[in-house]
Amino acid sequence: MKILIINGPNLNLLGEREPGIYGEDTYESLCAEIRQRGDELGFETEFFQSNHEGAIIDALHDARTKFDGIIINAGAFTHYSYAIRDAIAAIHIPVIEVHISNVHKREEFRHHSVISPICTGVIAGLGKKSYLCALEYFR
Ligand code: DQA
Repeated sequence: MKILIINGPNLNLLGEREPGIYGEDTYESLCAEIRQRGDELGFETEFFQSNHEGAIIDALHDARTKFDGIIINAGAFTHYSYAIRDAIAAIHIPVIEVHISNVHKREEFRHHSVISPICTGVIAGLGKKSYLCALEYFR
């Protein structure tokens, strides 16, 4: 089982970015923890982070023949990127949408996700465990 974990804009700054909301773990330590759990489950995990919409779309396209599943935190693109939504709709592997924070208890603009309707599932508000729970789906 090969799983790609995609993180969108500003998630490279985890640890220093609004730690009260996103926690104190860095992006690198988050990836290390996901990789470790992946190893325990016998999964091959790969990681991709970009602050650029087009790069995320390219990563989704490239993944379609190489991975069995995708876990994506699209960051703020979640709320308005129809292009990322279309890229997810275009590929035929399961995509799980995750968020570190509970977007539903935050600002109104975060309550709506344009990608949820075409994702296999959505996990939000569990901190880094959102990613770990998404990994369990692929067991
Ligand atoms: C986020 C929530 C988004 O609203 C925000 O723009 C992010 C992170 C989360 O993981 O909680 O960048 O996706």
